[in-house]
Amino acid sequence: MSDYYDVIVLGAGGAGLMCAAVAGQRGKRVLVIDHADAPGKKILISGGGRCNFTNIHTAPDRFLSANPHFVKSALGRYKPADFIALVEAYGIAFHEKALGQLFCDGSARQIVAMLLEECAKGRAEIALGEAISDIAHADAHYSVTFGARAASAPALVIATGGPSIPKMGATGFGYDLARKFGMKVVEPRPALVPLTLGGDETLFRELSGVSADVIARCGKTAFREAALFTHRGLSGPAILQISSYWRNGQPIAIDFLPSNSADWLVQAKRLKPKASLRSILATTLPDRLAETLSDRIALPGDLASQADKALTAVAQRLSSWQFHPNGSEGFAKAEVTLGGISTADLSSQTMESRKISGLYAIGEAVDVTGWLGGYNFQWAWASGWAAGQAL
Ligand code: FDA
Repeated sequence: MSDYYDVIVLGAGGAGLMCAAVAGQRGKRVLVIDHADAPGKKILISGGGRCNFTNIHTAPDRFLSANPHFVKSALGRYKPADFIALVEAYGIAFHEKALGQLFCDGSARQIVAMLLEECAKGRAEIALGEAISDIAHADAHYSVTFGARAASAPALVIATGGPSIPKMGATGFGYDLARKFGMKVVEPRPALVPLTLGGDETLFRELSGVSADVIARCGKTAFREAALFTHRGLSGPAILQISSYWRNGQPIAIDFLPSNSADWLVQAKRLKPKASLRSILATTLPDRLAETLSDRIALPGDLASQADKALTAVAQRLSSWQFHPNGSEGFAKAEVTLGGISTADLSSQTMESRKISGLYAIGEAVDVTGWLGGYNFQWAWASGWAAGQAL
């Protein structure tokens, strides 16, 4: 015997819980199914346990997708202010850390508890810890078999996220399901992910633990934030951000002195002619980084012994240091997934499939990827809300 609902949501992450709460509070009978033993696991580990739950600078140009216009409708109808109002209504204290990123003062658990309370208000049922063994579509109904149970509904929402961090239960399940229903999937790739260095650049791994405020560039895209050297290569916010734009084989340019003018080294020569490049760099950069960069540049003698032209060339090299990553740390370390269920097959207003009535996809499962800094949760809330209103 199959239990009957109005909506079955697959995945109890941020997007699935928001969708279930909204649809439930609109009077729909909702079942959420998740194979994990607890809901919102990625919310719990996000933002170092404090969940960077939105970004007040949310705008469509901070999202990557094969169709950059797709996000506009959902983001325009459910804004950071809407989620902030919910957070405030629950008395959850928060603060802006940097660059519009809002974090809980206390714990990410408060966000999960809030979403569960919202689901409870909508009488949404949440079934956890059972693997989904079958999904069938016949007579305008979706039937889902999970554990020893079966449920059916005229609407099915794919909210199973992307494959980043598989050890937390992340899977490509949503993609397989979408393909089964004839939807296209844009090739999934790890994003917001550390990059690895090899060959001649392996030496930089010795700087593991050193960080600096830089501008990281790939093609026309640039981010000014911290970069961190690791035992495998490069990480830190600037690198995670640029990794979403990086393709295998492309170089990444790092400006190690983003506040300096083009002639700063020539001016330094006038002020401190007896200084070495290393000592001058060490006034701005961490010692070990100053040492490695000056060793590589191998400028002999003091600044006074160099022609202005040579110093300008060194400054130029330091402002556009070329790294050639040989890969990334992959889905095991990626915060999100680029690509996913093609937006071409979905309505941007409702998140429903254009071809198959009653089939919806939301959150990270869809080919929409935000920048680092709360944007991905804002997409999860906004797309979940859009579907929840339409169901
Ligand atoms: P999400 O992955 O959260 O949920 C999918 C759910 O589906 C999971 O509960 C999973 O168990 C379930 N599922 C998967 N396969 C299934 C199957 N076969 N059967 C049944 N259930 C299945 N973003 C941000 O904006 N601010 C931040 O601070 C962070 N920090 C952060 C840290 C780390 C370490 C990571 C990995 C990621 C972040 N993110 C983030 C990204 C953010 O966590 C992510 O974009 C959202 O959680 C996506 O929400 P979804 O609900 O779409 O998927």
